[in-house]
Amino acid sequence: MKIVFSIVVVLILAVTLQSFNQNFDLKASIVRGKSVYNTQCASCHMEEGNGIEGVFPTLIKSDYFADKNRLVKVVTTGLRGPIVVNGVNYDGEMPATDLTDEQVADVLNYVRNSWGNKAKAVLPSEIQQAKKAVTKDYKAY
Ligand code: HEC
Repeated sequence: MKIVFSIVVVLILAVTLQSFNQNFDLKASIVRGKSVYNTQCASCHMEEGNGIEGVFPTLIKSDYFADKNRLVKVVTTGLRGPIVVNGVNYDGEMPATDLTDEQVADVLNYVRNSWGNKAKAVLPSEIQQAKKAVTKDYKAY
């Protein structure tokens, strides 16, 4: 009887852990993403995400956010050449980063859900695929 009971407990535990694993915790990711942002991005895009007009583009309601794959590429591989963000022209250079897939997802979850932005979670498991996807108007650094 004791053995049957133990087996049942172990099974319940396994099933519970499994379902936790599948529920990505967006809030925790945003918290981690904030510290990635403040150390890796804020020097150019500013702590409040507003950038410097004409030099470092804003991340607040940026129309550049529409394409998630392109966003992943910008954050991993960098970006250079002329772009227009919310009607303002930029022709600068953003260097590549060496963030892990989890850090990329975290920092994107932070910027996509701060300063009035709102978006669904980006998962670490999506990053490698997004880097390979075909995207319009993208020039790596
Ligand atoms: C050294 C300065 C610098 C750093 C650090 C930097 N960026 Fe950028 N970023 C730029 C510049 C400059 C551009 C525009 C490049 C161009 O004109 O082609 C840009 C463009 C972007 C864009 C696309 C345009 C927009 O405003 O939506 C996003 C998104 C972005 N950066 C996010 C980030 C994130 C997230 C980080 C941190 C992981 C980061 N950047 C770090 C300078 C920087």
